[in-house]
Amino acid sequence: MASWDVGSTMPVQAMLRPLLNAQSSPLLASIDTQAEIADALEYKVRVLNVGIVKTMPRFMLNTLPMRRRAKATQRIIDRMQNTHTATQRVGKPKDVVDAYLALHASDPQFLPESDLSLPLGAILMTAMYMGDQVGFALYWLLQNPELYERVTAEADALWAEGDPGEDDLSPDRIDVTRRVLMETLRMSPITVMSMRTVMNTCVVEGYELPVGTQLLIAQAATHYLEEAFPDPWTFDIDRYAPPRNEHRGGGYAPFGLGTHSCLGRRWAHMHMAINLLMLTHHFRIELARPFKRMPMDPLPSQSPSNRIKLRIAEQRHELRV
Ligand code: HEM
Repeated sequence: MASWDVGSTMPVQAMLRPLLNAQSSPLLASIDTQAEIADALEYKVRVLNVGIVKTMPRFMLNTLPMRRRAKATQRIIDRMQNTHTATQRVGKPKDVVDAYLALHASDPQFLPESDLSLPLGAILMTAMYMGDQVGFALYWLLQNPELYERVTAEADALWAEGDPGEDDLSPDRIDVTRRVLMETLRMSPITVMSMRTVMNTCVVEGYELPVGTQLLIAQAATHYLEEAFPDPWTFDIDRYAPPRNEHRGGGYAPFGLGTHSCLGRRWAHMHMAINLLMLTHHFRIELARPFKRMPMDPLPSQSPSNRIKLRIAEQRHELRV
């Protein structure tokens, strides 16, 4: 944020993914990955497009730029491991890399060395998911100036006596920001569906699903059903206040459903709220140009398109770095 100049314009992904990564890599993996994160995320997105959603042929992973990005990603993963030997971690708070390495050490059959790169590399993706989701939230705020003002007011109250501490971030003090994020996660969730493979033949709602069937479960489809969320195409944060509490009706699933729903949801929610508050307190942000409909990249996860450019219109408060 310290490098953002007043008057400058940035594509939304290029602005917010590194911002979130500057926090998530040190917090989850105890390393700084800023220099290589853009390459690593481009590589990961390509892997997902080729291997999971299959929108690109295999050779697209082997282009020269992708081979360079694959090496950059591997360098980060190697660094995660090289900085997490038992001696190096004495007295340090446990992070996610420690947890994966401990699981591998205690049960190498369950999490073999050959599979470690996948979860370690996935740590980097949280910057993309949270950055993109904050990008969606900012876009919705810019469409709803009255809400933008209310979030800014919450932020200014939190920073009134210096940087807020953890006890200051109670739900009542960040109520509007929290509900803006909940509504963003309903209207523009980064994950709209999950992929599964049927492991045991079963019958669901009268449909027989043979073993091996590939399923796309569109868990966020209910977000747009009138009976679950009245007037579903309107951005309305009062859905989540009593007596409406529409998120408790069973149709709200931005973090997935069932056994493998998001383990990081509480972290993500709090982390994104803090970032939205930091952004509105320190800067006034504008859309460089308006759109009739929000431009999005739908795959491999939903992202606000880089065609959306954000302008730093004003620095409202000094950054203490
Ligand atoms: C905008 C933020 C995020 C969203 C919308 C999100 C959403 C999701 C969704 C939908 C799934 C389920 C995928 C499936 O069913 O195949 C999932 C899984 C998971 N998420 Fe997140 N996530 C976010 C951020 C995070 C963060 C920050 C972390 C870690 C700190 C995290 C950790 C995980 C883990 C470990 C799983 C796998 C759980 C399992 O397989 O049992 N997520 N996430």
